[in-house]
Amino acid sequence: MPHVVVLFGATGDLARRKLLPGLTHLELSDLTPDIEVIGTSLEEMDDEQFRAFARQAVDEFSPRRVSDDQWTEFAQRLHYVPQSAGPEPLAAAVKEAEERLGDGVRRLHYLSVPPKAALAVIRMLRDAGLVERSRVVMEKPFGTDLASAIDLNNKVHETFDESQIFRIDHFLGKEAAQNILAFRFANGLFEPIWNRNFIDHIQIDIPETLGLDRRAGFYESTGAYKDMVVTHLFQVLAFVAMEPPTALEPRAISEEKNKVFRSLLPIEPRHVVRGQYSGYRREEGVSPESDTETFIALKARVDNWRWAGVPFYLRTGKRMEQGQRIISIAFKEAPKSMFAPNSGVGTQGPDHLTFDLADESKVSLSFYGKRPGPGMRLEKLSMQFSTQDTERAGDVLEAYERLIMDAMRGDHTLFTSAEGIESLWQRSQPLLDNPPPVKVYSPGSWGPNAIHQLVAPHAWRLPFERAWRQSR
Ligand code: BG6
Repeated sequence: MPHVVVLFGATGDLARRKLLPGLTHLELSDLTPDIEVIGTSLEEMDDEQFRAFARQAVDEFSPRRVSDDQWTEFAQRLHYVPQSAGPEPLAAAVKEAEERLGDGVRRLHYLSVPPKAALAVIRMLRDAGLVERSRVVMEKPFGTDLASAIDLNNKVHETFDESQIFRIDHFLGKEAAQNILAFRFANGLFEPIWNRNFIDHIQIDIPETLGLDRRAGFYESTGAYKDMVVTHLFQVLAFVAMEPPTALEPRAISEEKNKVFRSLLPIEPRHVVRGQYSGYRREEGVSPESDTETFIALKARVDNWRWAGVPFYLRTGKRMEQGQRIISIAFKEAPKSMFAPNSGVGTQGPDHLTFDLADESKVSLSFYGKRPGPGMRLEKLSMQFSTQDTERAGDVLEAYERLIMDAMRGDHTLFTSAEGIESLWQRSQPLLDNPPPVKVYSPGSWGPNAIHQLVAPHAWRLPFERAWRQSR
């Protein structure tokens, strides 16, 4: 069905980097039915200025080249209404777009706006009469604690039915995240050992080299825990830890994810290291006394039959040494060794399964093997898969593209539910009530020193002793 996409926050950072390039690709590739895009934001612009803004965004951020002809074709589908104009001009622009698109048009409202602006936008949609035939995509954070999440959900429900709401977590749109489900549930090999009897611990490690960019306003009041952990890292954790769902459909998946969240033990401040890179307080838009964490590492536990006693170590931060997105599953060591103590066995950590959540999704299994030559020296070897090495590398969809398509189809499978979000906030309460003081770390490092105590007697898997093998 054709769609009018109403993009709130159309001149913001996310729109520039991901949404406008993504919508361009979806329309030009025929992956979606016909669309028209109405951009709106606090900036005063006309259609032509918005088209120029979008073209620049596509040139700068799209991984695919868009020719002049293609752009001309797409640009006529882009329109702009300043938010200050109020509901009527927006309603009129949507109506005109619908007439151009023909029969059976649906509406997709994308709220790429800060949380405090979301309710005003929803009110505007109601006043403009744009709720019917529509779905709404909402960006995180969904509240800042349990009370505010419940309040936000209640208020949104006054206008939109839960079935119309798509709370986006773009990590779940990454091919590599969905590959965790395929890997676990489409194969008989690993699932039997996917539990506390065979797995020693799990790390979800997402360091970023990126700083604040232009997002100080958002980041200062959000911080790494709310920006990354409550949304992306816990969502990925749920894919790793959940029981096999009864079907690959939204209710079944949500049910299993929510069970993981309910089994999560409350996040204890003593199991958390909060960090702030030195110099953060001097950034523009940041308070000189800011207590916002730009880094967080924590130990979480999923207290159920499958995972009791298995620590999950999570880490993410800004301005770190490397940008990586890995999930590392460390298997238990062999119970007894027949190899000589100086053979090298066990010296490079336990054997691991590693998922890389980068766009070219990778999986690697590392194990001890024999070093060629005389005697019995052991060393870490690995088997590695990369989408980049397959014929299908070009078919990879950017996470937002995939999720926008799913929202248009009304498919909630990869979106988060109100219940899931609320139970995560509930588990987060001890940390939110008593956050440990931030510890300073140097930009370009792996975080404050206390991260090593947090995982002891284990060690962080990153930085890798051996880099990923290069793809073709
Ligand atoms: C966003 C966070 O949701 O995810 C950013 O707000 C973060 O702070 C980004 O940089 C990371 O996403 P990706 O897909 O670039 O790893």
